[in-house]
Amino acid sequence: MSGKALNIGDQFPNFTADTSVGRIDFYDWMQDSWAILFSHPADFTPVCTTELSRVAALVPEFQKRGVKPIALSCDTVASHKGWIEDIKSFGKLSSFDYPIIADDKRELALKFNMLDKDEINAEGIPLTCRAVFVVDDKKKLRLSILYPATTGRNFDEILRVIDSLQLTQTKSVATPADWKQGGKCMVLPTVKAEDISKLFPDGIETIEVPSGKSYLRITPQP
Ligand code: BEZ
Repeated sequence: MSGKALNIGDQFPNFTADTSVGRIDFYDWMQDSWAILFSHPADFTPVCTTELSRVAALVPEFQKRGVKPIALSCDTVASHKGWIEDIKSFGKLSSFDYPIIADDKRELALKFNMLDKDEINAEGIPLTCRAVFVVDDKKKLRLSILYPATTGRNFDEILRVIDSLQLTQTKSVATPADWKQGGKCMVLPTVKAEDISKLFPDGIETIEVPSGKSYLRITPQP
């Protein structure tokens, strides 16, 4: 039986779990930070090793954004500890500074709907897919992506989405296709024309379109 699907904006449920750094209560571990929880099919697998190595190298980038990474894989703490040595060796890393949850009983995989029915292990049990959950400092789910086991994630893209989430929660903008930090933004459709000069003192550009509607309003990143 699987858990209830989580939607963007839902409270991310708290949980306790054994990890490579000891038992944690997720909310206590997060403190007032954001978190990225990302799951893996299994320890000692090639794509997962590249992903955990990449995230270990990106820890300073997550820290800059106030985001704590935590991985999950359906193996034991002892297995994770052995695998971390391989990950460090593969990534030429001197340290590995985030926890890996030991979900060997698949309790969290079921609770958070992370099982991939297409990927079955030698015992015929489904593996976890590559789920990504970004949870904000209020413990609200802000991003949810599911990748198949055979596709490694693009963590530059995940950092890009975190930048967009953190920008757009305080400014009246949304970020367009392929936006990157510092790029032009779109004024939110909910911003009224009479509020533009107050919210965007440097002015905005409105793109003319055949419909005659003034909804394509561009501003430098506030
Ligand atoms: C991997 O991490 O390489 C992997 C794991 C399970 C299925 C396919 C690939």
